Amino acid sequence: MAPLALLVFAPAAGSVSSAATGFASPPAELFSPLVAQKVLKTAQAFSSQAPQYPQYTDRVNGKWIWFSPDQWTAGFFPSTLYAMGERKRLCGARAGSISESQWLDLGRTWSTGEIPLETHTGVGHDVGFLSYPFMDELALGTKNVTAVEAVNKFATALAARFNPTVGCTRSWDSSDPTDFQVIIDNMMNLEVLFASEALTGNHTLRQIAISHSDKTMVNHIRPDGGSYHVVDYNSTTGAVIHQRTSQGFSDSSTWSRGQAWGIYGFANMYKHTRKFAYLQTARKMAAYWIKNTPSDGIIPWDFNAPLSPPRPADSSAAMIATSAFLLLADQEHSIGNVVGSAYYTNEAIKMLNANTKLAWRPEWESLLANGTVNNPVQNNLTGIVYGDYFFIKAGNELVSRGLAHC
Ligand SMILES: *[C@@H]1O[C@H](CO)[C@@H](O)[C@H](O)[C@H]1NC(C)=O
Ligand SMILES: *[C@@H]1O[C@H](CO)[C@@H](O)[C@H](O)[C@H]1NC(C)=O
Ligand SMILES: *[C@@H]1O[C@H](CO)[C@@H](O)[C@H](O)[C@H]1NC(C)=O
Ligand SMILES: *[C@@H]1O[C@H](CO)[C@@H](O)[C@H](O)[C@H]1NC(C)=O
Ligand SMILES: *[C@@H]1O[C@H](CO)[C@@H](O)[C@H](O)[C@H]1NC(C)=O
Repeated sequence: MAPLALLVFAPAAGSVSSAATGFASPPAELFSPLVAQKVLKTAQAFSSQAPQYPQYTDRVNGKWIWFSPDQWTAGFFPSTLYAMGERKRLCGARAGSISESQWLDLGRTWSTGEIPLETHTGVGHDVGFLSYPFMDELALGTKNVTAVEAVNKFATALAARFNPTVGCTRSWDSSDPTDFQVIIDNMMNLEVLFASEALTGNHTLRQIAISHSDKTMVNHIRPDGGSYHVVDYNSTTGAVIHQRTSQGFSDSSTWSRGQAWGIYGFANMYKHTRKFAYLQTARKMAAYWIKNTPSDGIIPWDFNAPLSPPRPADSSAAMIATSAFLLLADQEHSIGNVVGSAYYTNEAIKMLNANTKLAWRPEWESLLANGTVNNPVQNNLTGIVYGDYFFIKAGNELVSRGLAHC
């Protein structure tokens, strides 16, 4: 594979090479005391009467804008609190003034606002994202019954969106029910099907995830490794009607956040199934990413957006891709490809360095700025809850691998 030939260990400009690991040092901001301070301050705003969830900030002062729970992003802040619990375990006093169990209790409290969504939600396929804090809870081995029920109900809701003629789960609802819309982001929501399969032994859920991924591999991914945001299928015939964009620059461009979801999603599918085509797809999408990253390392909101006027960055896409590259590195390692694993790890750290340097904002409520929520509706240059989430996750991942110190 091409990635192996491209192997380089050159540290990113301005960072120090760590003699111990051979990798560049990750940015010091990952473990700044501000991480725990800001997250705790936001966590203290929970209202049990009328829970509201931070999604993105304004562009000027970086203050969170709050939304009702019925949004695809509601799970990220609770899951961030679980990630802080993990960080406490990894980093001790460097992860805030409260204990691990206090972080986890905050995560549980924040999750409760999502429970009504088990019976009614408008988020469609994004029940997978809503499941994050409940999957975090179960990963602790607690067998918490609320979390078990949430995972199973959200998985059932996603499975109910599967159409065997199309072979996919429906992402977005549309006024014409025969217009069956699938977005690349949907690859991220498949994890809840595996989590529920593990709890119930229902293998149909896995088969749905595999069918969805097989179709996505064929119809969303271009020969050059870039991706379409949206594929419209005809739900009656299963035929592809359109390959297009919603949040990207154009139908033929590659929207960076969608590309990041795809790399993560296919690496994750390989982890669960060991189907080699998924690993190859994740590699191909990663190769596109690396090839199209500008020399300054800053990830634009769309890889094909014009350079003038200056195109806004999307730090959230960079953070998701950092986690995706680390997950891909794990998969390479699992098949004995040590060189490939080091290659993706190195690319992840370089990306984290360049984009943290751009986006870190001590004075904002979010950790990072320079996120693009949705550029076609002019929502750019904000902090974003999932950008911060993947930033914290990347820090945890690197500490766990011995590639960073708290
Ligand atoms: C289980 O998790 C829910 C939130 O998802 C929380 O309200 C409840 O207290 C937890 N139960 C235990 C025993 O920790
Ligand atoms: C397994 O899950 C599918 C999708 O939710 C459902 O239709 C089916 O009834 C389940 N099977 C069993 C044995 O519960
Ligand atoms: C899907 O195909 C059916 C049967 O050919 C047709 O009636 C319907 O208009 C098509 N839907 C779309 C969205 O193209
Ligand atoms: C990053 O955000 C700052 C303002 O917060 C803005 O001035 C700058 O142009 C942005 N850079 C990019 C590459 O988006
Ligand atoms: C970013 O959003 C602003 C409005 O919030 C808009 O005026 C501008 O055109 C957007 N930038 C680009 C390059 O699309």
